[in-house]
Amino acid sequence: MGRRVRSVAEHGRMRLSSDEAKREQGGYALLAEARQVLLPGYPLTELMKVWFEDHAFFDQMRRFDPTERSNDRKFFLRELLKLVDHLDGDTAEAGVYEGAASWIICQARGQRSTHWGFDSFEGLSAPSRRDGDFWSAGDLAASETSARALLEPLGAVVFKGWIPEVFAQAQIDRLVFAHVDVDIHDPTLASFEYFYDLLVPGGVIVCDDYGFTPCEGAKQAVDEFMADRPENVIHSPTGQGIVIKQARRG
Ligand SMILES: C[S@@+](CC[C@H](N)C(=O)[O-])C[C@H]1O[C@@H](n2cnc3c(N)ncnc32)[C@H](O)[C@@H]1O
Repeated sequence: MGRRVRSVAEHGRMRLSSDEAKREQGGYALLAEARQVLLPGYPLTELMKVWFEDHAFFDQMRRFDPTERSNDRKFFLRELLKLVDHLDGDTAEAGVYEGAASWIICQARGQRSTHWGFDSFEGLSAPSRRDGDFWSAGDLAASETSARALLEPLGAVVFKGWIPEVFAQAQIDRLVFAHVDVDIHDPTLASFEYFYDLLVPGGVIVCDDYGFTPCEGAKQAVDEFMADRPENVIHSPTGQGIVIKQARRG
């Protein structure tokens, strides 16, 4: 670890002028001190990660989320799509909202897949007891018209309706990648039930909400569904939960 940190620091010194490097190190030290006072449980991450300099990515994401808070998940989503680059089949998303994740999926797959998006566009359905008290029905409503204007030119098929009933409108043959981002238990479970069986071996399901305390119901749904299946759920430090479907044995 010590050796690795030194080499990253050396790289940083080459990249930045000495004034810039001092300012960056000073800013980081201040941030670390402020963190101890303001948010002691919040883990700082390292400086000088290569992806921080992917300016094209940040420019693309700013149109969706000016706060930039979900950029780590969006960046990782784009990387996870590489796992299915060699596979033929469609992609899907439960919980389209303004379309950011679906847009990333469509960009990654191009014309070789159909992307199927599902959303009420009226926000969340009613949370259950498992969801705690963070969410309310109707939170996160979004414009169906804007989502369609963004995604349909990329070949996506967007359905408006409540999960799980809305799934009956689609005719999906097989999936290579599914993104589940509906925040609460019941539609998360229903999405895993629907998508998992359609997924080819090597295909991937990502639950965007798996590692977030306000989304405890979504995590329970994934764990409940995966309990008697052979795959492990990979819990990413970004908060995503990832399942890579295995081939059936025997
Ligand atoms: C966090 S947002 C999705 C964010 C989106 N994936 C993105 O990349 O920005 C959650 C979405 O789930 C939708 N949703 C939640 N429960 C639903 C249900 N039972 N049926 C249909 N849509 C639902 C909401 O309308 C909302 O648009």
